[in-house]
Amino acid sequence: MCGIVCYVGEKSAKPILIEGLRRLEYRGYDSAGLAVQNGNEISCYREVGKIANLEALVDGKSMEGSTGIAHTRWATHGEPSVKNAHPQRDQEENVYVIHNGIIENYHLLKKQLEKKGITFRSETDSEVLAQLIAFYFDGNLADAVRKTMSQVEGTFGMGVIHRHVPGQIVVARRGSPLIIGVSDEGHFVASDVSAMVRYTNKVVHLQENELATVTADDFSILTASAQQIQRSTETVEWRAEDAELNGFPHFMLKEIYEQAYTIKNAFRGRLEPGEGVPKLGGIMPVWEDLKNCRHMVLVACGTSYYAACVGKYIFEKLTEIDTEVGLASEFRYRKLNFPSNTFVVAISQSGETADTIAAIKEAKRKGARLLGIVNVVGSTISRETDAGIYNHAGPEIGVASTKNFTSQLITLTLLALLLGRHQHLSLTEGIQAIRALEALPDQVRELLGQSSHIEAIAEKYFHCANWLFLGRKYNYPIALEGALKLKEVSYIHAEGYAAGEMKHGPIALINPEMPTVAIIPDDEMHEKMLSNIHEIKSRKGPVIAIATQGDEKVREIADDVIEIPPILDFLTPILSVIPCQLLAYYCAKFLERDIDKPRNLAKSVTVE
Ligand code: AGP
Ligand code: GLU
Repeated sequence: MCGIVCYVGEKSAKPILIEGLRRLEYRGYDSAGLAVQNGNEISCYREVGKIANLEALVDGKSMEGSTGIAHTRWATHGEPSVKNAHPQRDQEENVYVIHNGIIENYHLLKKQLEKKGITFRSETDSEVLAQLIAFYFDGNLADAVRKTMSQVEGTFGMGVIHRHVPGQIVVARRGSPLIIGVSDEGHFVASDVSAMVRYTNKVVHLQENELATVTADDFSILTASAQQIQRSTETVEWRAEDAELNGFPHFMLKEIYEQAYTIKNAFRGRLEPGEGVPKLGGIMPVWEDLKNCRHMVLVACGTSYYAACVGKYIFEKLTEIDTEVGLASEFRYRKLNFPSNTFVVAISQSGETADTIAAIKEAKRKGARLLGIVNVVGSTISRETDAGIYNHAGPEIGVASTKNFTSQLITLTLLALLLGRHQHLSLTEGIQAIRALEALPDQVRELLGQSSHIEAIAEKYFHCANWLFLGRKYNYPIALEGALKLKEVSYIHAEGYAAGEMKHGPIALINPEMPTVAIIPDDEMHEKMLSNIHEIKSRKGPVIAIATQGDEKVREIADDVIEIPPILDFLTPILSVIPCQLLAYYCAKFLERDIDKPRNLAKSVTVE
């Protein structure tokens, strides 16, 4: 979903901008461009397709200068083409703008400017920004941007340079995140930290309707009404190697393997083993209300929604809270009538998903308190909610969410355990749950040791055009997530189903060419899952079972078995999802898919 990278400092801007664009590739785009300023000269190049095409275009071109802006575009207005790529310019080519978002009233603004004799060259909405800024410019670039902001409806994250204002970048945001990176070698501005994490982990988040003037030595933040804002830097936990492959062929595989470490990070410093109670500092601002909450709604999209679905079962197990889940894109259109002291919990890796942001704004309007379970520090959802818990999964570069999903499950478990221990859960139950959580990293490592076995299973079935995933209770959402993972990265059609629904329809699909992944841990649903497997086998459907270690009954009937260590029932999803992730990865590998950047997908869906 497009990306912005800006730099102003002592170093040559061109290589920094190109590298920054590469780190944002995972967000999804169709074209790219950059502009570098050297005194009053600005050189600008744009290209369609991959960053590699832009790199080839500028290879060998000097592009001197230590001030620059760069952009990956995900077209909304105007086809992907060189003339529609960013930076967009005014007709005099003094103002260069890169823009994330949508200018809702660009038609009207364009007509008004054309009436003034201004000529437009692109089909984009973004060009209106460059033309308006040029129209308002009287020597103060920040003022011209501020006046433009007051005319514009819609969303923007923008970076602006002007031919006659060397060494300065003005950035502004409304609905599309921008982060300022502070380093000894100058200042960075980007859509997310991964574009700058190699140079700095000191960041400042620009907030809604703010703009900033950024130079090599300083930055100053203004509100839309020109009030100066002082804001100290935050330190993000991400490190340079987080944005590197470190020897893995793909970020998705790297992030699947990171889960032993990231699961531990999700509960590190948050367990009180002796008391059997987690510590979650981030929710203390609302704790007095939260501990008495008896109605909760978990809202999210995609994989985060499936984490919410697992969370519902976990809350039902560990607490007395009536817990429902809502697809964020549907939730906001419902007639919401919350009981008093309802908490709506937004679950989001990026913290920028437009549907989820819209859902919590609607929930707030209807009187709910808001919690966020988010991975990206300082993201919009983390700031729009009353309190929250960070996943600490680190940057998730692969478009298909893996390590963040298991971290979300840990975070939801901690929240349910904390609330449950202030309700009916005993000390013994609390200690038992905490000990099980502490054992997870080693169990994940053990499970990852089966990856070549799982690869061999994928090799047997990757040619099959349709797959079915089945699970019950805690693992029904894992069937849904497993199907989504396979679809996302391999483009194979897959459906996730509650296994109890088999006889209500899906069983008609069973055939020798359609593998079924049956998630059958040793829990209360085991016998019923065994019956489902028998039903499938009797109709010659191949079965890949994800079962608890040593399950002889499953070994006897399933075609292939992936064994997971024994664990408390409500924690099985954290383990059972990993074979699903690996099956999806290896099928995509055998099909030679663009695994980290699957077609049509973006890492963060910031438009509705
Ligand atoms: C997950 O593999 C997908 N990339 C997608 O479904 C994602 O989970 C969804 O877009 C929600 O994103 P969020 O967690 O950043 O809100
Ligand atoms: N709406 C702008 C365009 O279509 C920006 C799209 C984006 O966010 O990349 O050019």
